[in-house]
Amino acid sequence: MKNIGEYYFSQKLREIDDLNRQGKNVINLGIGSPDMPPHPDVIKVLNEESIKPNVHAYQSYKGSPVLRKAISEWYKKWYGVELDPGSEILPLIGSKEGIMHICMTYLNKGDEALVPNPGYPTYTAAVKLTGGKCREYQLLEKNNYQPDLKKIFRKEFKKVKLMFVNYPHMPTGALPTKELFQKLVDFAKENDILIVHDNPYSFILPRWLSGDSPMSLLSIDGAKDCVLELNSLSKSHNMAGWRVGMLCGAKERIDEVLRFKSNMDSGMYLPVQLAAAKALTLEKQWYVELNKVYSTRREKVFELLLSLGCEFRINQAGLFIWARVSEKYKNGHELSDDLLSGVNVFVTPGVIFGSAGEKYIRVSLCVPDEKIADAIDRVRAKTHH
Ligand SMILES: Cc1ncc(COP(=O)(O)O)c(C=O)c1O
Repeated sequence: MKNIGEYYFSQKLREIDDLNRQGKNVINLGIGSPDMPPHPDVIKVLNEESIKPNVHAYQSYKGSPVLRKAISEWYKKWYGVELDPGSEILPLIGSKEGIMHICMTYLNKGDEALVPNPGYPTYTAAVKLTGGKCREYQLLEKNNYQPDLKKIFRKEFKKVKLMFVNYPHMPTGALPTKELFQKLVDFAKENDILIVHDNPYSFILPRWLSGDSPMSLLSIDGAKDCVLELNSLSKSHNMAGWRVGMLCGAKERIDEVLRFKSNMDSGMYLPVQLAAAKALTLEKQWYVELNKVYSTRREKVFELLLSLGCEFRINQAGLFIWARVSEKYKNGHELSDDLLSGVNVFVTPGVIFGSAGEKYIRVSLCVPDEKIADAIDRVRAKTHH
C-alpha cells in the first residue's frame, strides 16, 4: 500500500462535490462515464427477470451460460473471433477488476509487468498492489502512440511476465492497426510473455459510419497462445454502473484466473447477466446512434480545445479527446487548475496517466452538447476580460 494513493478521480470528484456545494456549478469534463442510458430492451429484461422469485441465489463462478453464449456470439459477429462459451470466456464485474485478478494470478513479488506511459493508471496500481514492479514503455505522438518494441525492451526480459496493452488507447485515442496487433503477438511469443489487451473502447470510433470496425487482438492467428483480452459493456452499451465485463482467452488461462477470482467474489446477479446478454445482441443501429452522439460532441470539444489554444489529432477513438496544451502553460496540470479555479470547468491533467502525459489534458465526451457549449462560453467570456 505504501506506493499506492487513493485513485485520482476518487479524490477529485470529492473536491468537485465540495465546489458544487459552494454553488460553483462545475462542468465536469473529467471522467468517462457514459451519461446516456442503455437500450430500453436491456432495462426491460432486467425488470422482467428481477420480478421472478428464482433469480436471487448465488450464481455460478463462471457466469451464466446465457451470458457466455452471448459474449461468444458478439465476439464472432463483430471481431470475427471464435471463442468457446464453455471454456474461453469469463464474465467479470467490470474489466477493472479483471486487471487486478490477472495481476494476482500471474505476478509474484519482484515479477515485472510492462505498462504503457501514458496509460490507464489501474495497470500500474494493480501491479504494485500485487508486489510486482512496473516497467514503463513510452507511447509517443510521433510513433502514433504505438510502442517501439525493438528499441525499448529486448534486454530487460528476465522478470517480465505480463505486458498491458490497450487499443483504442486511453488516454490518447490512438487506434490499433492489424500490423501493430501482429507485431504484439510476435513479440509476446519471442519473449514468452503474456499480453493483456484491455479493449473497452473498440465500439466508440470516430469513423464508424464510413467504415471503421472494432478490432480484437484475439483476431490475430495464434493469439490465444499468448493473449488475454479484457472487454466491457461500460462504454459500448452505456452500462458503466452495472459492472459487466469479460475476460477472453485460452481455456488454461481462464482456468488460472478463475482459480483466483472464485476466491474473491461469488458471481453476478442473474438479471444483470441476462440483461447484459440482451445488450450484446443489439443490432448495428445501436452503435451507429451512439457514435452519432459522440461525433457531434467531439466537434464541440474540438471547438473548446481551439479556444484554449490546444493542439490535437482529429482521428481519436474512445470517450475522450487528448490534447497538447499551448506553450502559455507550463503543463496540463496548470491549465486544468486554471480552468477549475477560473471558470469552474474540470478537465483531466494528462500527467495522471504517466509522465509522458505531462503536457497534455484529456477531455471527456460524456457530457451533453449544451454543457460543452456552456464551457466554451465560460472560457471565451474569461479570455475577453
Ligand atoms: C482503459 C480502461 N480500461 C478499463 C476501464 C474499466 O472499465 P470497466 O468499467 O469495465 O471496469 C476503463 C474505464 O475507465 C478504462 O479507461
